[in-house]
Amino acid sequence: MPSPALQLTDVRKTYRSGDEEVVALDHATLEVGRDELVALVGPSGSGKTTLLSVAGALLGPTEGDVRVGDTEIGDLSEKERTAFRGKEIGFVFQAVNLVPFLTARENLLVVAEMNGNLDKGAKHRADQLLDELGLGHRTGNQPGELSGGERQRVAIGRALMNEPSLVLFDEPTSALDTELGEQVMELIGREMRSRGVGGIFVTHDTRMTHHADRTLEIIDGRLKA
Ligand SMILES: Nc1ncnc2c1ncn2[C@@H]1O[C@H](COP(=O)(O)OP(=O)(O)O)[C@@H](O)[C@H]1O
Ligand SMILES: [Mg+2]
Repeated sequence: MPSPALQLTDVRKTYRSGDEEVVALDHATLEVGRDELVALVGPSGSGKTTLLSVAGALLGPTEGDVRVGDTEIGDLSEKERTAFRGKEIGFVFQAVNLVPFLTARENLLVVAEMNGNLDKGAKHRADQLLDELGLGHRTGNQPGELSGGERQRVAIGRALMNEPSLVLFDEPTSALDTELGEQVMELIGREMRSRGVGGIFVTHDTRMTHHADRTLEIIDGRLKA
């Protein structure tokens, strides 16, 4: 049996805030299959972004185990963790954070460059992804020249650029109107399924959960069974 895309076991994450300790995640146990798309819903402040950050090795857990594929994140040094993230994980954030002075195509190629494989294959892949995302005619445009929906599609392309084994979406449609949000979610579902990649998307909008194979709810840092 291949290992799942993601496995969290009894993960706890706390932050220090002045003298106080904030428990953002408590006993989080979760498995995401290699071809599974999971929706994560919960009120503001319930720990959704923290869960994605820990799952994506942006933050280390305070306690518990985080496994992405066959790799135990806790066993990696900081440097190894950064390299691992670059190769295995794709992120799409709520606020689209594209590089403003680079074109759509260059925003994808940055990923290849950071991983040290900016070659002909990478350029072909960037063009192919942008084409699939309906941006074939926008590859030479900078983010400021694109609409909100187009920018979010570039961000999706960037997240898929490194052929990740796990893709994490943090409220990918919250800045879009309902119809555009629906289109972007549709695209995310299609791209993820055609690639057989594991993923989690956070959403505030329960109308979006039908794009997922499964929906998890989080309240006060605890996943509901
Ligand atoms: N860097 C931080 N320092 C201190 N507390 C934080 C930090 N990040 C998040 N928190 C707190 O942790 C809890 C969970 O936050 P977060 O994961 O961002 O929730 P969500 O994404 O569901 O809105 C909240 O109470 C939040 O205030
Ligand atoms: Mg959040």
